[in-house]
Order: sequence, then C-alpha cells, then structure tokens
Amino acid sequence: MGFDIRPAADGELDACARLMSGSEPWRTLRLGPEACLAVVKDPAREKYVAVGSDRVLGAIVLAMGGPFKGYVQAVVVDPGQRGRGVGRALLAAAEERIFRDTPNVFLCVSSFNTGARRLYEALGYRQVGEIPDYVVPGHSELLLRKSIGPLSGFRSAPLS
Ligand SMILES: CC(C)(COP(=O)(O)OP(=O)(O)OC[C@H]1O[C@@H](n2cnc3c(N)ncnc32)[C@H](O)[C@@H]1OP(=O)(O)O)[C@@H](O)C(=O)NCCC(=O)NCCS
Repeated sequence: MGFDIRPAADGELDACARLMSGSEPWRTLRLGPEACLAVVKDPAREKYVAVGSDRVLGAIVLAMGGPFKGYVQAVVVDPGQRGRGVGRALLAAAEERIFRDTPNVFLCVSSFNTGARRLYEALGYRQVGEIPDYVVPGHSELLLRKSIGPLSGFRSAPLS
C-alpha cells in the first residue's frame, strides 16, 4: 500500500493520539489517552501524518519553538504497518521541514526502546545526553541530535 505524508487535519488528531497511547514506549511511560491527546492537540506543535487508503498509518509531532528548536516530540506508526518504511519517511519529512529553519533535529528516545534507537542510529542521530529517571523511575530518556552544522552562520531557507 502506498502512502502520502502531509500536515494532519484536525479530524485526524484523535487517531494519532490513539496510535501513541496504545503503543510502547508511551505505555511504559504511563502516558495514557488524555496525555497523548494533549500532545497532538497542542497548537504550538506541528503534526504530520502518513496516510494510505484513507487511513492514518503514522504520525509525527514537531516543536519548532523553545530552547530545542526542531524537536521531534513523537513519532509513531500503526503496529500493523511497521517495518515497511513509513517511520523512515515520516522522519525524512520532519528533517526536511526542520532543516529549513534550524540546523539541528533533536529527539528523546527511551533507554528501553531498542528498536527505535537502532533506527535513529542508522539515520545518523547521535546521543548527546542522558536524563535518568526522567519520565518513570528506572528508565532514562536519551537525548539524540542530528546536525547539519552549528547555529552560528546558519541561514534559514527563504520563504517560497
Ligand atoms: C519507531 C517506528 C516509528 C519506526 O517506524 P517503522 O515504519 O516501523 O520504521 P521503518 O519501516 O521505516 O524502518 C524500520 C526500522 O525501524 C527500526 N525498528 C524500530 N522498531 C523496531 C522493532 N520493534 N523491531 C525491529 N525494528 C525496529 C529498525 O531499525 C528498522 O530498520 P531495519 O528494517 O533496517 O531493521 C515504529 O516502529 C513505531 O511506531 N514504534 C513504536 C513507537 C516508537 O517507539 N516511537 C519512537 C519513540 S522515540
């Protein structure tokens, strides 16, 4: 099945939140439906979805403001659609968007999330920090960064 990536419509945000709250790592992190809905409905976030056959197959949520500008807050793919390139495509779209405005992509990955860590490593993300016991006791959040250069001298892409 093919898929497109585009900004999420308001009516798709509930489906995005359900994908998150039903899946690891959010289950272990104890972020339930309401907390996930708050993340995807935050007007300060940009949300993109992968859509195929009129269904939301995956979603990615970005923070383009604040101290870690270009932060990927969440990326999730429907469990039945994993392993066929949807996650890589969502991340590629997010990187294209973020690198227009800032030279860094940041994200946190839970220490127990070995599958996602492998994917980020393969895509060129490097660990730049570790926050122990940050969301739940016994697990760290690892701060990862992918960079195309320092902030100094970076020029945003002109608006087209
Ligand atoms: C991480 C995630 C978004 C990747 O999406 P995807 O569509 O499955 O990924 P792709 O098909 O584009 O890429 C597959 C890669 O994902 C990685 N991967 C992630 N989770 C995996 C798992 N449980 N088992 C095997 N590989 C996994 C592997 O590196 C794999 O690469 P490979 O095929 O070369 O081995 C998806 O697995 C997911 O939704 N996981 C649950 C939520 C999550 O962990 N989000 C990240 C939070 S930081």
